[in-house]
Amino acid sequence: MKTILDAIQKLTVTSTEAIEKSDSLDTLETFRIEYLGRKGKLATLMPILASLSIEDKRIAGPLINQCKETIEELFEAKKENLIIKSFREQEEKSKDFDVTAYIPRKLEGSLHLYTQVTQDTISFFRTLGFQFVDGPEVESEYYNFEALNIPSNHPARDMQDTFWLNVPSLVMRTQTSNVEVRSMEELSLPIAIISAGRVYRQEATDASHDCMFQQLEGMFIAEKVSMSHLLGTMKLFLQHFLNKQDTQLRIRPSYFPFTEPGIEIDASCSFCTEGCSTCKHSGWIEMGGAGLTHPAVLKACGLDPKKTQGFAFGFGLTRLVMLKYGISDIRLLHNCSMEFLNQF
Ligand code: DAH
Repeated sequence: MKTILDAIQKLTVTSTEAIEKSDSLDTLETFRIEYLGRKGKLATLMPILASLSIEDKRIAGPLINQCKETIEELFEAKKENLIIKSFREQEEKSKDFDVTAYIPRKLEGSLHLYTQVTQDTISFFRTLGFQFVDGPEVESEYYNFEALNIPSNHPARDMQDTFWLNVPSLVMRTQTSNVEVRSMEELSLPIAIISAGRVYRQEATDASHDCMFQQLEGMFIAEKVSMSHLLGTMKLFLQHFLNKQDTQLRIRPSYFPFTEPGIEIDASCSFCTEGCSTCKHSGWIEMGGAGLTHPAVLKACGLDPKKTQGFAFGFGLTRLVMLKYGISDIRLLHNCSMEFLNQF
């Protein structure tokens, strides 16, 4: 009899302590299984009770019941406490969660930098009366070289490392100047055209070279066209492109088989006043080649050089885009990285 009374008392004490110590619903559940479960500590009293005499059972039975009730009451109260506590904790955590902070972003496409700059340039030249023309990227040797006064034995062919196709006399165009010849053949005077597109050259790829890049080409053919028309047009374009009204032009003599004279055009640096890395501390940025259309080219296109003249220019569109947007690696423009493209 004494054993069971001690056991009941010990159980009451240890269970009360265990409930008090439980600090989560999980530990409380472990307690429930350990003490109140079918094979729990309370259940172990039953065989002892059964072995007692009727008189002892009458004393010990109610005590066991009372012990059970006490444990269950404490258990339920603690459970309620812990549930409330966990609710409060969650509430506290969700205070920092700002439901208004999430702005769902629509997955929107945007125009590639090339497209943006090309469209802007074309619409600028349209205001001057130029029309947009396109030309083939797979081009005949004739339009890419021959008609531009670059015969097959001309050393200038080496200036542009050509991709020759398996089909005889077909190349990937090395320059957008092919559109000049095609336009002179197809359009009637005066001709004012602007074109842009891909050109291909066998170049090892690095930060400033790629086997494909883009060029911008323009041409004006009419009667009595002079260098001053070319320079005036270029000045207006570069002021627009660099978004700087006081942009100055500098020209240097150069050589292109399809121009006479040929010039190289520089613009005053729009990024600094005292020299920077973009202008290599010279104050001038190289923009591209230009010149007056060579009489041989006019002749090849069926025009009389005595009656007609023209100017033409060819700028590296890729270079201009990199310059304008401060892009230091050409590969960024060509490798379709969303991380890069999403910036524009
Ligand atoms: N086609 C030349 C090149 O790829 C650039 C060029 C220079 C084009 C002078 C022109 C020009 O129309 O007049 O290097």
